[in-house]
Amino acid sequence: MFNSDIYSVNECGHLMMDGCDTVELAKTYGTPLYVMSENEIRRNCRVYKNAIDRFYNGNGLIYYASKAMCVKEMVRLVDSEGLGVDVVSGGELYTALAAGIHPNKICMHGNNKTVAELQMALDANVGRIVVESLPELELIDRLAKERHKCPNILVRITPGIDAHTHDFIMTGQNDSKFGVILENGEADAFFAKAVLFENIHISGVHCHIGSQIFELEPFREAARIMVDILGNVKKKYGYIMSEINLGGGFGVKYTDKDDPISFDQFIEAVSITVKEAAAKWGMPIPFIMMEPGRSIVGTAGITLHQIGGIKEIPDIRTYVSIDGGMGDNPRYILYQAEYDFVVANRANEEKTEIVTVAGKCCESGDLLGENVPLQKAEIGDYLATFTTGAYNYSMASNYNRIPRPPVLFVKDGEERLVVLRETYEDIMRNDI
Ligand code: LLP
Repeated sequence: MFNSDIYSVNECGHLMMDGCDTVELAKTYGTPLYVMSENEIRRNCRVYKNAIDRFYNGNGLIYYASKAMCVKEMVRLVDSEGLGVDVVSGGELYTALAAGIHPNKICMHGNNKTVAELQMALDANVGRIVVESLPELELIDRLAKERHKCPNILVRITPGIDAHTHDFIMTGQNDSKFGVILENGEADAFFAKAVLFENIHISGVHCHIGSQIFELEPFREAARIMVDILGNVKKKYGYIMSEINLGGGFGVKYTDKDDPISFDQFIEAVSITVKEAAAKWGMPIPFIMMEPGRSIVGTAGITLHQIGGIKEIPDIRTYVSIDGGMGDNPRYILYQAEYDFVVANRANEEKTEIVTVAGKCCESGDLLGENVPLQKAEIGDYLATFTTGAYNYSMASNYNRIPRPPVLFVKDGEERLVVLRETYEDIMRNDI
């Protein structure tokens, strides 16, 4: 599964990424190594940006969900493409601010934001804060009053939609820790009180139905529900909200089993729903926001590891052991996420073997894939795992005191380091 926009194979049989020889990158920078295609990230940003221009006359804003991969250079990159940034913690907010993006282009999330995080967001004048409950709204109102501010608030709604994805990344259904529930009347009770607060401006509603979703209908349903809430709140309280944020969640292709439709097709279809729903209420088309994470960076990244051991257990399986694993990619152990692999220095060879890719942590479950096709590998070869751009670096840990890998951006045959490899000293920095 090669995306020819990013990958090719050179005359030595090496996997090339955006014009860079990945085997040379592995030798120069060491392994494990995250490599990300800047061109692919920019292309993905532009698909979203252009869709907003085409289907909403530019009346919207795409926030990159930085939880997918949050480092300063990533924020600078999406900023340069005209996107905003969604942050869910003080740490992500701190990173976004340090990267120099205008605070007005930051949307602050978090299902249990601390007082300190809310203060930080208010002091930084972030453009929007997504609120998840009435007590949180009361707190923000009080903190805003102390600061003589009136922040823009989006209300996170749990719309009661079951999108088909892994249980742990499903968020739209009623049994969720996120948001204000629509179906049981919680949202009604919320707005009855919320419209009375004086130190906030409720500019709209938000929902996020889950992640790695391929179906269109749940997004259309969510959009319809969001517009209906704007209509109902206006009708009931005369309170005008003019924005909807539909969250992220568009699925990407990890293996040949995944068959995503293009994001702009999604956005076009959803825009029709939004326009119809707005017309039904006789209201202007709302300002539209989305928060893609995975679909901006997922396909842009690979991880390079070196193979240090091959253990063939007759009639059972063959373990191919790499110099990383769940520390740099916990998605298999967490979600049984499937990946596509290639031996980067044998990328022109047939995949004749079926193997289990094993990490180096002291846990049997530390695997990156089971029963995956691979070229016949030898010790010392380099393994590339595709589509590791999202939720890999950002979810990496120091389990077993293994330093986190560096991040390299590649573009048109040139590479640049954007995150250094951690050292043992880094890992011990806070030990006393
Ligand atoms: N907005 C909100 C409110 C979210 O909670 C999320 C993801 C996004 C946007 C971005 O969703 P995306 O476009 O990336 O699907 N660690 C899991 C994914 C967790 C997603 C959490 N929220 C994984 O590795 O699959």
